[in-house]
Amino acid sequence: MALEKTLVLLKPCTVQRALCGEVINRFEKKGLRIAGMKMMQLDEAILREHYAHLVDRPFFPTLRDSMMATPVVALALEGVDAIEVVRQMAGPTNGRKALPGTIRGDYSVSGQQNIVHASDGPETAAAELKRFFRDEEIFEWTSPMRVAVYASDEC
Ligand code: TYD
Repeated sequence: MALEKTLVLLKPCTVQRALCGEVINRFEKKGLRIAGMKMMQLDEAILREHYAHLVDRPFFPTLRDSMMATPVVALALEGVDAIEVVRQMAGPTNGRKALPGTIRGDYSVSGQQNIVHASDGPETAAAELKRFFRDEEIFEWTSPMRVAVYASDEC
């Protein structure tokens, strides 16, 4: 159990479909703390870095273009085991395979237009938070809900 921060991107498909509020609401209702949030236009350079593991895949050009179609909304979310919690909430990559109840399962039918990006481990979360947020854009405010969200020995 560890208090972690993780990066979420609300993809352009989510901005275009006016689902940002709906998705952010899910993270808030779950009990995650919003430590950072901003809208930003991605460019080719940041996408080649962010998706470095995929640049040689045939779908990279459509992925890149879809991620540049409109601005994205970047979120830094904090909670106990937040990286895994948010990945579970997102569901598997392909919205057609993702179960109802997950964000991708409830809002997408695509393997690419799949609503959110979510960091997949502690090292990627640290690198991705640095990629999308300056230090002063991450806020360490104390949530008054913490005593109700967690047991005293959990957090
Ligand atoms: P990946 O990092 O494998 O998945 P995830 O987003 O679940 O961590 O892939 C990054 C994005 O690339 C994914 O959200 C959608 C896109 N993508 C495709 O368009 N086609 C594919 O076959 C894969 C694997 C990913």
